[in-house]
Amino acid sequence: MSKNHFESILRCCPEYAQTGAIDELRANDYGRLDRLNHVYLDYTGGGLYSDSQIERHNHLLRTHVFGNPHSHNPTSEEMTGLVERARRRVLEFFSAPADEYVAIFTANASAALKLVGESYPFGPGGRYLLTFDNHNSVNGVREFARARGAEIRYAGIRLPDLRVDEGELVTALEAGPRGGPSLFAYPAQSNFSGVQHPLEWIGRARQLGWDVLLDAAAFVPTNRLDLSRWKPDFVTLSFYKLFGYPTGVGCLLARYEALRRLRRPWFAGGTITVASVQGDRYFMADGSAAFEDGTPDYLNIPAVEFGLEHLERVGMDLIHSRVTCLTRALLKGLSGMRHGNGRELVRIYGPLDTEMRGGTVTMNLYDAAGGMIDHREVEAAAAREGISIRTGCFCNPGGGEVALGITPEELSGCFTQQEVEESKRFTVDDFRSCVAGKGSGAVRVSVGVVSNASDVERLLGFVSGFAG
Ligand SMILES: Cc1ncc(COP(=O)(O)O)c(C=O)c1O
Repeated sequence: MSKNHFESILRCCPEYAQTGAIDELRANDYGRLDRLNHVYLDYTGGGLYSDSQIERHNHLLRTHVFGNPHSHNPTSEEMTGLVERARRRVLEFFSAPADEYVAIFTANASAALKLVGESYPFGPGGRYLLTFDNHNSVNGVREFARARGAEIRYAGIRLPDLRVDEGELVTALEAGPRGGPSLFAYPAQSNFSGVQHPLEWIGRARQLGWDVLLDAAAFVPTNRLDLSRWKPDFVTLSFYKLFGYPTGVGCLLARYEALRRLRRPWFAGGTITVASVQGDRYFMADGSAAFEDGTPDYLNIPAVEFGLEHLERVGMDLIHSRVTCLTRALLKGLSGMRHGNGRELVRIYGPLDTEMRGGTVTMNLYDAAGGMIDHREVEAAAAREGISIRTGCFCNPGGGEVALGITPEELSGCFTQQEVEESKRFTVDDFRSCVAGKGSGAVRVSVGVVSNASDVERLLGFVSGFAG
């Protein structure tokens, strides 16, 4: 890293000087990053694990004999103890009162969202209200709502910041549930733009009679979520996004009171007290058990506890402050880039400052004539330099459509034309050719737990190489 660049980060963010412990952590516990010369800038895609997490998990597995927690024998009892301890640690990490919230282990955030979607008592008279910038796994819940006759409504986001039009949202919230159970869903942080939406919406919506689903998947890796203060009915997340390992374990945090209103569409091993073949009846188990289908990923669940302890040892506030500084440096560096003829090289979709935004920066690059450079070209060039970024629409079509200026008319034109050719599937290439001229995606860089000034410097150097 050049001294100049470090100093320029300090100038725009003096707090960076207090985050040096992260450089030590990176050298000692994430040595593989620099040893293999990786510039990892896809933390919103997946977090990175430390060596020490893996060592602790490895040690645990090598020094115990664990059986399926659904049995009742010494090896399964010990396993049950660790699963339940991890469950308590998850609640503690989010300061969730144990008499109010329950942690349900799922395969990932999407599985947690599906649990809510398939079990929520949508029906005629009910509503599903959601912001435009949701991940597809939140958008997908609308199909459960639609199938059961609930009304679906989106609250729009606006360029250039890609924040929600608060007036429109408040109007929709105040129109309120029409007599049926109604759910309002939004991301605490958009995985498209990095925008952080106000957590104050939770209380407001609940007061107006809505149940609130907070998708915290992109927010919690670098921000504290305090469930003793904010009280969404449902919170969804994936643990690999927080600390890289294990994959395959996520969580639904639910208020007991809201959970009792959910109706599971089926039963499975582990979710019932009694089910009978000849009697044709089943009785659901209480609490988390009713929502954990089959055998949980029991050998990996203790690694969740190690991951949470790791983040606590590093300190969420320290991580947050480092990520904020690096994001500020990225925004400043990228937004100032110009071609020789004065035209802008980078167009950022989202806020240009770090107020209420996280470490996800999404953009497109433009050539000196003002034409958009295809994101696939940028991704391939980054790969050649050992830089890991994400391109496309990041499973967040609403964010992409607004950022790229793709209109509802254009989209319905694309999809109607498709219905004519019913036998054909609609591929990404079909979509690209349909919206040709507007671009079909963007470039996303995201910083996280052990990002450093050198990562930012290498990224800025890489992007500036497109200047003509
Ligand atoms: C905001 C947000 N919600 C939900 C998800 C879905 O997470 P998963 O793919 O782990 O189920 C993601 C993943 O990128 C996300 O960023």
